[in-house]
Amino acid sequence: MMLKRFSFLKDKANASFQDLVAEAKQREIPEHIAIIMDGNGRWAKRRALPRVAGHHEGMKVVRKITKFASELGVKVLTLYAFSTENWKRPKPEVEYLMKLPQEFLGTFLPELVSENVQVRLMGHKEGLPAHTLAAVERAMAETAHNTGMVLNFALNYGSRDEMVYAVKNLVTDSIEGKFTAEDVTEQLLSSYLMTSSLPVQDPDLLIRTSGEIRISNFMLWQIAYTELWFTEDYWPDFTEAHLLEAVMSFQKRGRRFGGV
Ligand code: IPE
Ligand code: IPE
Ligand code: MG
Repeated sequence: MMLKRFSFLKDKANASFQDLVAEAKQREIPEHIAIIMDGNGRWAKRRALPRVAGHHEGMKVVRKITKFASELGVKVLTLYAFSTENWKRPKPEVEYLMKLPQEFLGTFLPELVSENVQVRLMGHKEGLPAHTLAAVERAMAETAHNTGMVLNFALNYGSRDEMVYAVKNLVTDSIEGKFTAEDVTEQLLSSYLMTSSLPVQDPDLLIRTSGEIRISNFMLWQIAYTELWFTEDYWPDFTEAHLLEAVMSFQKRGRRFGGV
């Protein structure tokens, strides 16, 4: 069956989705994909539902996309789930969002374990409600020995906050005599960021849904040479076909990293 999303591939009009997946897998798969999952609220509003209904639907998409990214051979999937600025939202919405990790991991954790996925957290643990942190930490512990894709949740994460925190720690270590100003390099600074322990630190591909063409304080240092892909569709409507389209778009681009 030819999917509508792929009608732009005129020469592949008869290819099935699985054919396209197989073809994409023969080319370079982005090792680190980061997604700004946006548009849950508008998705709900369009259906005259409360905003939280959009967040709930979005959680199901996380499950689907995690599976598919792992199947494609992605090494790190970073998902922006809650920003340091999202605390500004109405209290009931924040409370709902902080309950989602428990709900999501409660049902999905056994699947993550069997799929060899490793769960990680990127963001400030302090500030997260105890029950939220406990759910994520349990998932991290139960998947710590897995060797497959890293599912990196950006929760209470903001890039500027990350940098401030990095500089604070760097200054402290410098005062303790670990290094001098001359020793500060891009590598050293990177080692103080929240991505330092990931197998691939910088995203190769960044996706944002919902038609917003902005970064919203996400991985500012790490996306210096990341390929960007945007879709008008809201996160709850995001499918495997969207991810495949983004990956195929990535595969057509010539990355030069400042060279020729
Ligand atoms: C993204 O959807 C989820 C979070 C930021 C937590 P939004 O809640 O931002 O949805 P819109 O942008 O208001 O539609
Ligand atoms: C970015 O979305 C944060 C997450 C997706 C978690 P926002 O909806 O918070 O971003 P703005 O406010 O539209 O820039
Ligand atoms: Mg939004």
